[in-house]
Amino acid sequence: MAFPIQRLRRLRQHEAFRRMVRETSLAPSDFIYPLFIVEGRDRREEISSMPGQFRLSIDHLVKEASEIAALGISAVILFGIPDRKDDRGSSGFDPNGIVQRAVKAVKDHVPGLMVVTDVCIDEYTDHGHCGIVKDGRILNDETLDCLRAMARTHAQAGADMVAPSDMMDGRVAAIRAELDQAGFSELPIMAYAAKFASCFYAPFRDAAFSSPQFGDRQSYQMDPANRREALREIALDVEEGADIVMVKPALPYLDIIAAARAQVLLPVAAYQVSGEYSMIKAAANAGWLDESRAMMESLLSIKRAGADLILTYFAKDAARLLR
Ligand code: PBG
Repeated sequence: MAFPIQRLRRLRQHEAFRRMVRETSLAPSDFIYPLFIVEGRDRREEISSMPGQFRLSIDHLVKEASEIAALGISAVILFGIPDRKDDRGSSGFDPNGIVQRAVKAVKDHVPGLMVVTDVCIDEYTDHGHCGIVKDGRILNDETLDCLRAMARTHAQAGADMVAPSDMMDGRVAAIRAELDQAGFSELPIMAYAAKFASCFYAPFRDAAFSSPQFGDRQSYQMDPANRREALREIALDVEEGADIVMVKPALPYLDIIAAARAQVLLPVAAYQVSGEYSMIKAAANAGWLDESRAMMESLLSIKRAGADLILTYFAKDAARLLR
């Protein structure tokens, strides 16, 4: 047998060949862009731990939304930073709350852009936990009323999809029932199905002022060591009526994304979280990595692992490169 018969370099010789045999591709429509919304007018404050990302007041959000839509990005996900916090996160389910007004503004001005909302009370509670706290314990079922009201008011404001993110039990079923009886049976739910207790959320908590004031989130978010448990979480959310399941963070959990893809027929989303973004930004800023290439390679790896959708702070930068 002549040496070697199989030469895999044959198809790597020209860019045209490489393009023809490329197995995975990214498109702007794969991305969901997370945005932080604050009260007031004419505010566009850069988040120090997330260079290039801003806390926006609603007037700036509307401008931003048109740019995002023009880049071909399918959707945004909104995170509210309220002026007022309490132990139940009441400002989060106020029909006139920051996210509810933000949703309405985007849908009024840029109706073609899909608006997803994060349904979790942590940004609105003074203790920073995702559940109601009693005697130092984070309660599960007692928090459901707040979440139902939050999801319903988001839907009433015009949200296209809601995304429960607190990783406690029974969220999807409760929100599904609430939406159905409020007349929103057509509104999909994207479940943060396998969300790990990760240190990579640190810049987000800094951006949204949502760090827990005591303890940590390990009694509700998942142990990074557990793959089978992630699959149980995903299976439960599918049973409860989720339309899209999400894995979060993305890069340190590519195996979980691949396992999710193999297990369910639903679309799988992955969240490239704040810390993943900030690491690349910091290394690029120090001159240690090429920012664009690091961004595209990590996004591609997430897609290759099996994600159909990627929530990413790089959405705009990546979309510009893909045009
Ligand atoms: C909870 C929520 C968090 C993120 C998205 N939704 C924070 C947390 O669990 O502490 C993190 C996103 C990121 O790091 O980019 N409302």
